[in-house]
Amino acid sequence: MTLASSMLAMEISVPGGPDVLLPASLPVPVPGHGQIIIHLAYTGVNRPDALQRAGSYAPPASASPLPGLEGAGTVVAMGPGVTRWQIGDKVCALLPGGGYAEYAACHESHALPIPEGLSLREAACLPETCFTVWSNIVMRGRLKAGERFLVHGGSSGIGTTAVQIAAALGARVFATAGSDEKCRAVEALGAETCFNYKTADFSEEAKKLGGFDLILDMVGGPYLPRNIRALADDGRLVQIAFLQGAKVELNFAEIMMRRLTLTGSTLRPQSDQAKAAIAQAVESHIWPMIAAGSFRVVIDSEYALTEAPAAHWRMESSSHIGKIVMKVPD
Ligand SMILES: NC(=O)c1ccc[n+]([C@@H]2O[C@H](COP(=O)([O-])OP(=O)(O)OC[C@H]3O[C@@H](n4cnc5c(N)ncnc54)[C@H](OP(=O)(O)O)[C@@H]3O)[C@@H](O)[C@H]2O)c1
Repeated sequence: MTLASSMLAMEISVPGGPDVLLPASLPVPVPGHGQIIIHLAYTGVNRPDALQRAGSYAPPASASPLPGLEGAGTVVAMGPGVTRWQIGDKVCALLPGGGYAEYAACHESHALPIPEGLSLREAACLPETCFTVWSNIVMRGRLKAGERFLVHGGSSGIGTTAVQIAAALGARVFATAGSDEKCRAVEALGAETCFNYKTADFSEEAKKLGGFDLILDMVGGPYLPRNIRALADDGRLVQIAFLQGAKVELNFAEIMMRRLTLTGSTLRPQSDQAKAAIAQAVESHIWPMIAAGSFRVVIDSEYALTEAPAAHWRMESSSHIGKIVMKVPD
């Protein structure tokens, strides 16, 4: 198969608002050792793309400067050392960047087969949220059946994934979101209760429940002391973002007295080996949940790749529920 030498991409012309995403003609990536090139059919939009576009989340030095952390399509080229895939295989993949384009490169171990019964459009929305949620609530947060689990931003791409996975693991699931409409949608996905944080205080609600064993948080800032109060003894708080600030003052007494664990992680800068281990866990635990019907992809809206600015405006409005996806031209 002969590949085109150039491709359509949406690049960040300068750091700024959604309209700085502009079409460009760029060289098709060349696969390195162990890498595959995917002709993308769809690419998922994630909040870190918006942060990168705004200039507050630099890609790792080895990654494409284009935004785009996930996608699904067809394997069209392979570097030396690739063993799992063949040209023509349909895959979805966690990308180190570069998803806002017709072709993207990734390590072969970060690609997964399309789960049975799912379209490429749905599969494109899986990797970033599934890798993030599994690695943080299970590998890091040690969530177990019967535990009380709270996720903030319950209607987000991450939230809709976390609610369903935690419910499938047998946890009692709680969430927060910013409107009653969002809360009802999150409850329909398996949350016992979703608190509208504009009208209810989750840390007060936590007391009535006996506290949460695990909290997955993306808000940070003023939520940190409230999260600590909301944890049960021996509870764990896993931080994956800080939409309301990265710095707070902390009283360690409560952490020591109640044996709490505060941790967190970010996926993108982790090593290829670490991401491969997460990929294996996602395939062996989440793919069967999809096959069993206990996890589905919640898609809010679809845009063409060239409409990336509109997709980002939608995300920044925070009116979406679930994932925003972009169709890459055939
Ligand atoms: N650590 C990692 O490896 C990793 C990986 C992927 C994503 N993330 C982070 O996870 C978060 C969710 O990502 P996503 O792609 O699912 O994004 P998303 O769908 O846009 O979700 C963001 C959610 O946060 C809430 N929100 C927005 N601004 C807020 C604010 N100032 N204060 C409180 N809540 C706010 C919104 O819900 P309401 O309108 O209901 O408040 C929205 O549902 C992002 O912060 C992202 O950076 C981390």
